[in-house]
Amino acid sequence: MDQTVSQLLNEQINKEFYSAYLYLDMANFYAARGLDGFANWFEVQAHEEQDHAMLFYRYLQNNSETVTLEAIAKPDKVFETLADPLSAALEHEKYVTSLINAIYAAAQEARDFRTTQFLDWFIKEQGEEEKNASDLITKMALFGSEAKGLYMLNSELAARVYAAPSLVL
Ligand code: FEO
Repeated sequence: MDQTVSQLLNEQINKEFYSAYLYLDMANFYAARGLDGFANWFEVQAHEEQDHAMLFYRYLQNNSETVTLEAIAKPDKVFETLADPLSAALEHEKYVTSLINAIYAAAQEARDFRTTQFLDWFIKEQGEEEKNASDLITKMALFGSEAKGLYMLNSELAARVYAAPSLVL
């Protein structure tokens, strides 16, 4: 495999585990404020990010590349209002999309079509991730400013259940 592509894929393992850690921090923020539904939503999100990390890990192994695991950074975002984690989550997903796009571009440059095909799932997934984050911001703006609306939204988010990724390697 092209070494730039391999290195970027390896770095993405770390970025995805960092994403899991960031979302767990957001879950923790809501749990501490009694919003168990919001906490559940972000715990499920954290679980999905671990899956993403494992897909990159397995893909490299399946292609006989050496995986190097680096330290995962401490989540350092500061949240004050209940809406803060939601805007931070959208901003973070846009950043992850840019990372996936950069790997895709490097793979195309190297004519590594196996990797571009592998990344197709992530390109689509990022579209969903950004939409989910954006929808949450919209709902919070519509309903979150009064107690009954916030209670209903929290109940809705409590219903999110984890599902394994549709991509299997
Ligand atoms: Fe792994 Fe939220 O993208």
